[in-house]
Amino acid sequence: MLKGKSAVITGGVRGIGKAIAEEFCKNGANVMLCYRSNDEAAENTAKELLQYGTKVELMKGDVSDFNHAEEVAKAAKEAFGKIDILVNNAGITRDNLMMKMSSQDFDDVVKANLSGSFYFVKAISKIMIKQRSGRIINLSSIVGLKGNPGQVNYSASKAGVIGLTLSAAKELGRRGITVNAIAPGFIETDMTGILTDEQKKKMAETISLGRIGKPKDIANAAVFLASDNASYITGQVLGIDGGMSI
Ligand SMILES: NC(=O)c1ccc[n+]([C@@H]2O[C@H](COP(=O)([O-])OP(=O)(O)OC[C@H]3O[C@@H](n4cnc5c(N)ncnc54)[C@H](OP(=O)(O)O)[C@@H]3O)[C@@H](O)[C@H]2O)c1
Repeated sequence: MLKGKSAVITGGVRGIGKAIAEEFCKNGANVMLCYRSNDEAAENTAKELLQYGTKVELMKGDVSDFNHAEEVAKAAKEAFGKIDILVNNAGITRDNLMMKMSSQDFDDVVKANLSGSFYFVKAISKIMIKQRSGRIINLSSIVGLKGNPGQVNYSASKAGVIGLTLSAAKELGRRGITVNAIAPGFIETDMTGILTDEQKKKMAETISLGRIGKPKDIANAAVFLASDNASYITGQVLGIDGGMSI
């Protein structure tokens, strides 16, 4: 579905980002995977993905630094000749009840999750505008729509990602670029790995489909949104949560 396409995926070496990278490569795309610090995960993921026969590039840096976004855009254009798809996936949590949350923890989460997404949309859409085509997929969260105690920083950042998605979709539509968001529910990754098995079991009981999501559940939707089959879909927020938010 993505043969000959080139993608930049932030946070692409672990969890949901890694699953998206794998499905993209399986479907014929070249990928540039950005990550912040986990060199081991980066090297292992890159090695694993080479089996699909497409190009796999790694870029280390912090998404909350605008210069990094510009470096990635330049490097991806040099490596692939074009950038068809951007997936803004990198994200962090610093959970605490509001009264105990430091302003630093609030700012760090907003900077990584929201400002980082803006920096990459800005840097990479510049190239997509010249191409007059592109697909941008931003990772929000069901928490950005519904809120969650202990996550005012995270839910504010993810609600912001939805606003960014809607406005960017309006700005970029005439340039042939679609911008959509995915709002996952509870997905089994390192980010949610702090919960005990007992807590996960209780969580699964609140989900209509009776199970916690897998990174591939998100990756399958990302492939669709990045493909030609989704060419008339923009400014949408696709909830993928097994019915958790119904
Ligand atoms: N898991 C869930 O249940 C869930 C639910 C809703 C939404 N989401 C969203 O889905 C996305 C992926 O989540 P996940 O569960 O796969 O997370 P994860 O397993 O914790 O992986 C996060 C990835 O983002 C990278 N990253 C974090 N901060 C970064 C920064 N400042 N600069 C560059 N890279 C950075 C990490 O790089 P390193 O490997 O170098 O640390 C890692 O590759 C996030 O945006 C998250 O908010 C997740």
